[in-house]
Amino acid sequence: MEFSIRPVEIGDAKGINALRRMPGVFENILGIPSERVKRSENFIANLDSNHHQLVAVTKLENGEELIIGTAVLTVNASPRTRHSGSIGIMVHKDYQNMGVGTALMKALLDIADNWLMLVRVELTVFEDNERAIHLYEKLGFEKEGLMRLAAIRNGKYENQYIMARINPLYK
Ligand SMILES: CC(C)(COP(=O)(O)OP(=O)(O)OC[C@H]1O[C@@H](n2cnc3c(N)ncnc32)[C@H](O)[C@@H]1OP(=O)(O)O)[C@@H](O)C(=O)NCCC(=O)NCCS
Repeated sequence: MEFSIRPVEIGDAKGINALRRMPGVFENILGIPSERVKRSENFIANLDSNHHQLVAVTKLENGEELIIGTAVLTVNASPRTRHSGSIGIMVHKDYQNMGVGTALMKALLDIADNWLMLVRVELTVFEDNERAIHLYEKLGFEKEGLMRLAAIRNGKYENQYIMARINPLYK
């Protein structure tokens, strides 16, 4: 499957909203099935220089572009934590386990390491999200702690790991 990665555009809001409500995705990203396209439009419109959002796109047979994944790196704005940032990521249900998440993460980590020179990148992940944890560990993230009952999922309060990756230059 061929895909490419580019910066997000305002016209991507509909495709991103579809991902945020998609069974097989929304459960693990804190999405809610009632989320509106407007939320994604506002989010994209309000991205500033501390936000780096990429989308992965593939071409359908009819020539249309389909958004199959997105990931955002948010650099902390506070002067004393601006050497760190956080990442959120999701991949379309039908395109998971095909390398899209790895490519998006590598693209953001290149920005973080080489163009922003961040020291620390962190994220949270549900305790049982084994695929995501495998991906993060493969790219150098380590579990730092378990946040108990940190987020709601399907009628329960669930634990989440906080994971972080220290730029190899600063280890
Ligand atoms: C988690 C997610 C972003 C990963 O993206 P992806 O495109 O599916 O991931 P990739 O195909 O690049 O890599 C998946 C890796 O996990 C491995 N994997 C798959 N299922 C696994 C499992 N159950 N346990 C452990 N590893 C698993 C694959 O073998 C692959 O590893 P490899 O590259 O060493 O072979 C994507 O599946 C997703 O969006 N899931 C739903 C939303 C979500 O969980 N977002 C993250 C919130 S923290």
